[in-house]
Amino acid sequence: NWSATSILDDQVERIREQIGDAKVICGLSGGVDSAVAAALVQRAVGDQLTCVFVNHGLLREGEAEQVESDFVAATGAKLYVANEQDRFLNALAGVSDPETKRKIIGREFIRAFEEAERAIMAEAATEGETIKFLVQGTLYPDVVESGGGEGAANIKSHHNVGGLPEDLRFELVEPLRALFKDEVRAVGAELGLPAEIVGRQPFPGPGLGIRIVGEITGERLELLRKADAIARAELTAAGLDDEVWQMPVVLLADVRSVGVMGDGRTYGHPIVLRPVSSEDAMTADWSRLPYDLLARISNRITNEVEGVNRVVLDVTSKPPGTIEWE
Ligand code: XMP
Repeated sequence: NWSATSILDDQVERIREQIGDAKVICGLSGGVDSAVAAALVQRAVGDQLTCVFVNHGLLREGEAEQVESDFVAATGAKLYVANEQDRFLNALAGVSDPETKRKIIGREFIRAFEEAERAIMAEAATEGETIKFLVQGTLYPDVVESGGGEGAANIKSHHNVGGLPEDLRFELVEPLRALFKDEVRAVGAELGLPAEIVGRQPFPGPGLGIRIVGEITGERLELLRKADAIARAELTAAGLDDEVWQMPVVLLADVRSVGVMGDGRTYGHPIVLRPVSSEDAMTADWSRLPYDLLARISNRITNEVEGVNRVVLDVTSKPPGTIEWE
């Protein structure tokens, strides 16, 4: 017996009560939860909120712009952008092991976020203010058991109850604590957030960093971004977004195979399509996408993405395969 409007009004009221006239910050990951949490707080306390976006350079095509322009346009929120692409590329140079990649990305993310916090605090201090609150996009399922595939996971595990660092200077504001994902999406739509943000499929915090099998380089990221954008655009055009839980597009950077183009031989990398259907990401089945859609994706990627000469389909369920390749 809920409606998005009543949840929204109710939460705006509670947020105002909790925050009063204090200052508050919120990390944006590009994902649904942090965007909706931030938009709610913005609706409640306006310019007392500063949003922080650490761009680690591992997002997909268009995602940084969705945060930097579309989110800001829809909410009017103040946004502090930390462009940290080089920092992450440097820290990840020469690293192929998946868990090492995750550790490095998580560590650098926390450092970058804390630096941004300090810069914002310093600015507030010159105006005689301190920042008292930190917004978290914690959902009800996160409260019950921590986990989930949301991009804000790094911020969460850092600041969340349970893993609280001893020097945590903030009180938490968690306006989504009682909500499930579909309710969060409905509230987001009610707040006027763009469909691309509200309808976004799960995307791992370490982003494209764990979708390049092998070392991460700027060039490889560029290539994977193009292939991923084509696959996503075709899936959407086929009207199948709702049927597919998520579709990782993976670059096998350590593998090369022989191909032919015009009258020349190529020696390029394969791209893997990993469309899955799932309820909760704990188990999954590979999606039976229509052959003509697969053919379109394959033709476009091999024609349009230089360096890729083969597209393969992952037909493994979870278990035994995981959804991501790393
Ligand atoms: P797997 O690959 O374990 O993925 O079947 C299950 C879900 O979790 C997401 N995933 C991650 N999310 N940080 C995240 O925030 C990670 O390191 C990570 N690894 C996997 C994956 O996209 C899927 O939704």
